[in-house]
Amino acid sequence: MPRIVIFTDDPGWHGRQLRLAFADRGCDSEYVSLADCRLVIEAGKLPIVIPGFEKQLPDAVFVRGVPGGSLEEVVLYLDILHALKIMQIPVYNDGHAIERSVDKGMTSFLLHQAGLPTPLTWVLRNHSEALAIAEAELKNGNLLITKPLFGSQGEGIRRIEKMTDLFWLTGSHGVYYLQRFIHCAGNGFSDSRVFVINGRAVAAMQRRGKSWLNNVARGARCESIELASEMADLAVKAAAALKMDYAGVDIIQDRDGQYVVIEVNSIPAWKGLQSVCDVNVAELLAEDVIGRYLKSPLKTDVAA
Ligand SMILES: Nc1ncnc2c1ncn2[C@@H]1O[C@H](COP(=O)(O)OP(=O)(O)O)[C@@H](O)[C@H]1O
Ligand SMILES: [Mg+2]
Repeated sequence: MPRIVIFTDDPGWHGRQLRLAFADRGCDSEYVSLADCRLVIEAGKLPIVIPGFEKQLPDAVFVRGVPGGSLEEVVLYLDILHALKIMQIPVYNDGHAIERSVDKGMTSFLLHQAGLPTPLTWVLRNHSEALAIAEAELKNGNLLITKPLFGSQGEGIRRIEKMTDLFWLTGSHGVYYLQRFIHCAGNGFSDSRVFVINGRAVAAMQRRGKSWLNNVARGARCESIELASEMADLAVKAAAALKMDYAGVDIIQDRDGQYVVIEVNSIPAWKGLQSVCDVNVAELLAEDVIGRYLKSPLKTDVAA
């Protein structure tokens, strides 16, 4: 039976959903924390030690969570993911996709490079230059958003609305990520989350925030939507620009009706989405991992 590692420190609902979906398809899966893995550079030994997989590496790994930590700690976790891929173990999403998307500066750059609509963004170190950019934007009637380079679930995001807000304009860990605020179409505040698997938009929802921050973790309400083909196309292109097996793409429709990509998540949650969509996301993910990356579990059993 194929054995899959689900990297996570907090399996919760998502871990259980995945495990069930893998089990239904004849695959065994284990939760492992990346913090418990090791590189061992020693002749005759497996160079990557994953608890429970000391004799044989897993058939695939599904990355549900990468723990935070110092730069060195995070680099080690990414090293483990890169090393697995180098040893031909499928890593879903792989370490490079995670690196690209966890870093909001690189995400913005790659989206723009791919010719996809994404807000005007500046990423820099210098305080007075950051102030000058923010001042110019406010003078031109624009609002600005500041974000930590490595953030998720709305953490640390602020909006600069007036000149006096510039007093507290601070970088996050020494870096300023400034982005023009996009006023969304319609009443209130909302954006869309499109879930893409293997180049196909499989589900979407609208997230209605209590304020301009539309993260589910910040109390945004999830609503089902008909997925417009233009939005689906854009989400698929965004996932491709970041070279992801699957992705959660955040899209805002601006007041002119144009779709704008805000973010591409390589480790997206889907509990909120699952509550308003009629496909089973975990099953689609498990099918994709197995279908594209594993030999058929049935064939393996027969051969054994
Ligand atoms: N440029 C922007 N214009 C308008 N709203 C934004 C902008 N950037 C972020 N937001 C709002 O903040 C939320 C979180 O931003 P996002 O970049 O997705 O970071 P996170 O990784 O924390 O989810 C978005 O879902 C959106 O509601
Ligand atoms: Mg987001």
